[in-house]
Amino acid sequence: MTARSSTVRRWECVRCGASVPIDAWLPFRCPNATAEDRHHALGIVSDTDVVDMSSDSHPFVAADRHLAWAACAEANGMPFERRRELVLETDEAIRAVDGTGFHVTEFGRADVLSDELGFDADGGVWVKDETASVAGSQKARFLFSILLHLRAAEELGELTTRPPLAIASCGNAALAAATLAKAVDWPIDVFVPTWMSDGFGHRLDDLGARVHRSARLADDPPGDPAMLRFREAVAAGAVPFTVQGPENALCLDGGRTLGWEIADGLRDDEVEWLDGLFVQVGGGAFASATFTALAPSGLDVATFPVQTAGCAPLDRALERAAARDIVDVGFHWNELMTIWENPSSLADGILDDETYDWVDIAHSLRIAGGASVVAEEPHVVAAHDLAKHAGFDVSPTGAAGLAGLLQVLEAEPERFDSSSCVAVVMSGISR
Ligand SMILES: Cc1ncc(COP(=O)(O)O)c(C=O)c1O
Ligand SMILES: [Zn+2]
Repeated sequence: MTARSSTVRRWECVRCGASVPIDAWLPFRCPNATAEDRHHALGIVSDTDVVDMSSDSHPFVAADRHLAWAACAEANGMPFERRRELVLETDEAIRAVDGTGFHVTEFGRADVLSDELGFDADGGVWVKDETASVAGSQKARFLFSILLHLRAAEELGELTTRPPLAIASCGNAALAAATLAKAVDWPIDVFVPTWMSDGFGHRLDDLGARVHRSARLADDPPGDPAMLRFREAVAAGAVPFTVQGPENALCLDGGRTLGWEIADGLRDDEVEWLDGLFVQVGGGAFASATFTALAPSGLDVATFPVQTAGCAPLDRALERAAARDIVDVGFHWNELMTIWENPSSLADGILDDETYDWVDIAHSLRIAGGASVVAEEPHVVAAHDLAKHAGFDVSPTGAAGLAGLLQVLEAEPERFDSSSCVAVVMSGISR
């Protein structure tokens, strides 16, 4: 066997510790997850290493040694040159559909925001702008690693037919999934709620997705009917093409490019630490992948996951854990993380009633410091207005990390001073 250059070693469940080898195909769910107890999630175990994103202009080529899809392809005999071509070919096809391909998105000090919030020249607010990414949000990064894994499996003869892709979403994730599926001409079923707007439905139709409006059926158990139909499709053989780690661990793989790009950008700006990185939390994959990616960077980054007062299951679970002095939150997942009734906020993209990818967020808070933030609704509204005023074409959900910063500046004025360096991600374009 030739020596492998990858830093990725294996998959390991954040709840039960089950280990899955890196050369396993379709390593979507923990082997111990069941239909009744889905609270398991495979995490990526790697050798600690700084990821140099400047080695190639394409983020997925630059990060190849650190990506799990690439480690699997490599372990099964696909050399770097071919992986590189596969990334670039697939990217080209995505560009033909979306007009944009994957690239290192803008990251830098936002002067208007920094001035408005009273930071001086030594500090400020840095912004990672995902609105110009594929399909207008951060979501496509998470799906690209799944797609690359599937294409590698096809090429190496592990997947001889194309099972349909499946996702339950009526937002940015659905759009990103349908865009990627169209690019490679792979059939996709998108399960959406009955109340989805016709306008959004037409966009999915235009991308060739099979859209299923999912009404509650008489004998349905509790829960979102679109999610129930998605799970039925996966049980029948569809690929979970989703941005929820417990359903498909490979999404967290590509999502980490966002954190690696932030670390690289900070180094370029000679910022050696961040007093706070604010990331909005819906299902939690976004914050989980970003915080995890930053951990080996050598930079000191305090993490602030942000939810809104109208939907804060992560914050509630962390409070429960703190009250009981529980450190190993994964082990206590079922008691700590429970459904949030009647979620509501202007930031409607982060109204997931439970946080799926939350164990790694809890670990980041413990190791890197920072705090869980619950933004009051007036801050959600103000953050959206402020972001627009500062020139970002962002949705309320996309500006919700900034709402977390506003919340902390008001509720804990001693936490930062005018020379603090903080960062937010404008994660999705306004629609
Ligand atoms: C623009 C935007 N930002 C943030 C999020 C939250 O990401 P996650 O669900 O991975 O926590 C979403 C999710 O839909 C989103 O659309
Ligand atoms: Zn498990």
